[in-house]
Amino acid sequence: MTYKNWKLERETDGESGHIAWAILDVAGASANALGAEVMTELGQLLDDCEKNPPKALIFKSGKAAGFIAGANIEEFAQNDTPEKARAAVQRGWDVYERLSRVNFPTLALVRGHCMGGGLELALACRYLLAVDEPATKMALPEVMLGISPLWGGMKRLPERIGAPAALDMMLTGKTINAKRAKSMGLADECVPPRVMENAARMLVLSNTPRRELKFMDKLMSGPLKSMVANGAKKQVAKRARPEHYPAPYSIIDTWQNYGGNGLAIPADKPTSLDSLMAHPTTRNLIRVFFLQDRLKAFGKDAKGFEPKHVHVIGAGVMGGDIAAWCALRGMTVTLQDQSVERIAPAVGRAAKLFEKKLRDKKKARFALDRLIADPKGDGVRQADVIIEAIFENLDAKQKLFADIEARAKPTALIASNTSSLKLADIASTFKDPSRLVGIHFFNPVAMMPLVEVVAGEKTAPEQAARAAAFVRKIDKLPLPVKDGPGFLVNAVLAPYMNEALKCIDEGMTPEAIDAAALAFGMPMGPVELADTVGLDVAKAVGEQLVKSGTPPKKVLDLIAAGNLGKKSGKGFYTYVDGKAQKGVVPQVGAGDTAILADRLIAPMVAATQKLVADGIVADADLADAGVIFGTGFAPFRGGPINYSKSTA
Ligand code: NAI
Repeated sequence: MTYKNWKLERETDGESGHIAWAILDVAGASANALGAEVMTELGQLLDDCEKNPPKALIFKSGKAAGFIAGANIEEFAQNDTPEKARAAVQRGWDVYERLSRVNFPTLALVRGHCMGGGLELALACRYLLAVDEPATKMALPEVMLGISPLWGGMKRLPERIGAPAALDMMLTGKTINAKRAKSMGLADECVPPRVMENAARMLVLSNTPRRELKFMDKLMSGPLKSMVANGAKKQVAKRARPEHYPAPYSIIDTWQNYGGNGLAIPADKPTSLDSLMAHPTTRNLIRVFFLQDRLKAFGKDAKGFEPKHVHVIGAGVMGGDIAAWCALRGMTVTLQDQSVERIAPAVGRAAKLFEKKLRDKKKARFALDRLIADPKGDGVRQADVIIEAIFENLDAKQKLFADIEARAKPTALIASNTSSLKLADIASTFKDPSRLVGIHFFNPVAMMPLVEVVAGEKTAPEQAARAAAFVRKIDKLPLPVKDGPGFLVNAVLAPYMNEALKCIDEGMTPEAIDAAALAFGMPMGPVELADTVGLDVAKAVGEQLVKSGTPPKKVLDLIAAGNLGKKSGKGFYTYVDGKAQKGVVPQVGAGDTAILADRLIAPMVAATQKLVADGIVADADLADAGVIFGTGFAPFRGGPINYSKSTA
């Protein structure tokens, strides 16, 4: 039998039967995603194997991109009735149940990404062999889309690695590399690529029994189950309220009470598949997933641009962290400032970042070797990308760029990280102003996924496309914006923070204001945010970007008293070890909190709508994406414009 998306290859080894290889190579796609057709064909492939049983069956990918990227989300999102969603889930659940029971040994040879439904397939096999290379990553990330691993992952993962580790993976969606997968028992073996096929043949025929769960893990899936479930619920409650994010609570309930079978939950329960599918969060998170893909696609329009060397000028808060991030992502980086002394603190911060992110001394050392202090700026001549991040002064930037333009390679991308200067003004002293583009990072660089790619009046479109490609190369999300005060993100944040500060002048407490924003789903309250960026900076940005009304008075008083926020230990809050010391939140009804939240969010929504109307960002969807990834705007609300439509 031939399949559209699978190949079934049987290899003979002479007298004693054969090993069959099920190779997934989804037609017309660069990565394997599991849609209805692929799953139906998997059932037929199992029919085929049962009719003519192999000695063993090994699954592998026919794609260079990886093993399996997960379920076909686009297709899943089209299930617009509970019946259709249940049918799609049932199909996956049934075929993996069947796979788990075939009477020949099975193995998943996992190389590259193995996500969601892909990992559930691997878990339904008897063995999982992980190939040890950086691209190999396993995860059950369904929770990030507001759903749960419904094809048997919730049942099989705890059986394999114990409930605490399994819940941790399913509730956070975190990825596990090959070595870690082996050490935690998710993978049976971890081997280098050159021996993977032989290792797969040997392991699948080895008859090795499954590693038994540790005694404590058995208890935790038995008598201590409700204790584990309650602990997990408490952990989840710290990050996500059930009314905002029902999926993690559904995962815990499914594991605790339904043997990992989400289909067994009655439709009228809030943790059921039907309830999840009907919840606006699921729709919005799936929307955010596609928006993220749209941002990623902006990096694809500069074919042939392969930047390897980045030169950063200005080793301050931003330049230092941009340089560190680029080195972490494999670039060679030269970092320039006025003296070595000014570069040293940035290198110190970079060393800490590498240790934290790479968790491997040798790799951290290599990353540090890629970050080169360059006080004289010799790197400008060789660099593929040059990013200016000196202080916000037009004259200083123009002088610096005159030198850069004269010395840079003709093919080098020249960028500024300016937040508030007009790109066209900086470019006005260029010989060729079409070369300058804005690459605007957010603080803290390591945590913020978005980078605005700013096209000034004269910026050549191909330079903006190359800038977006560079942003993807360092694993950030590029958002193309036009040159305008505050671009998108700051122009949206400023009126929101200003409204919060006005509330303070009216006598509300910072605690009440921040609590309302948190209840709405913001990652941090606007008052604490103002303290964090620095009240002097917040005031300056507010004056520039919020044209109406007078500046909030309490801010001016605090600044006059030298209380600039977190950096000086006191602002609206007092800071101990970097943490805001908050007083009691006054008890008000949920209705009042929601009214206050709406008051804070309204200027943000209005600003976003205006920026779309002014063409600063191409359309409302991209604006929503930018505000979510650039400010942390509650993702489950799908962005400010999407939110305003839902409340209209
Ligand atoms: P910063 O004051 O921390 O660092 C600026 C650095 O540039 C200093 O180390 C200074 O010695 C160096 N510098 C000044 N002139 C120089 C020159 N001619 N040659 C070499 N080095 C020179 O400033 P920060 O906050 O890092 O800001 C830098 C740029 O990034 C500004 O354009 C700012 O608007 C922008 N930005 C700042 C953000 C923030 O949160 N601080 C966020 C996003 C962008």
